[in-house]
Amino acid sequence: MVKVLFVCLGNICRSPLAEAVFKHHCSLLKKEHDFLAESCGTANYHIGDPPDPRTIRNAQKNGVSIQHVGRQLSIHDLKVFDLIMAMDQQNYENILRLDVKNTYSHKTKLMREFDPEGKGNVPDPYYGSEKDFQEVFDILNRSTRNLIDQLSATLPASPKPVK
Ligand code: 4NP
Repeated sequence: MVKVLFVCLGNICRSPLAEAVFKHHCSLLKKEHDFLAESCGTANYHIGDPPDPRTIRNAQKNGVSIQHVGRQLSIHDLKVFDLIMAMDQQNYENILRLDVKNTYSHKTKLMREFDPEGKGNVPDPYYGSEKDFQEVFDILNRSTRNLIDQLSATLPASPKPVK
């Protein structure tokens, strides 16, 4: 089982959507038992909050179910997750800042390293429009699917059914 943590700033827009889309693909691919996904924020602004209403609407519009309670990243997360996926460069730097002994930087990646259509940040849609939320969805949809494909290639093959 590979444990993946998606991280943004507030944990109400990008990372809960990344978690939801990742789980959606896992379910379509029948890989729910191969992966565990969670999300959190580097900031403490939205601890205990549900995702932003615009994120919930966007997920629903795209046929993805989303349920999350906001929480903040801790050093414990860096220890227990196999892969820490930062939505943007600022998140990435804040994650590395928490990792003062530089123990976990090898597991910390930028989400768009897995975007087949381009590198850079998953843009923060908080002050944006519906179109910006859809752009975030499209980026996360491509990137999480590709991430699952790449991680699956590293997993041991499923045991053959016993006849
Ligand atoms: P997120 O977006 O990091 O994608 O969840 C934001 C949510 C809240 C704030 C900023 C970005 N905020 O400043 O409260």
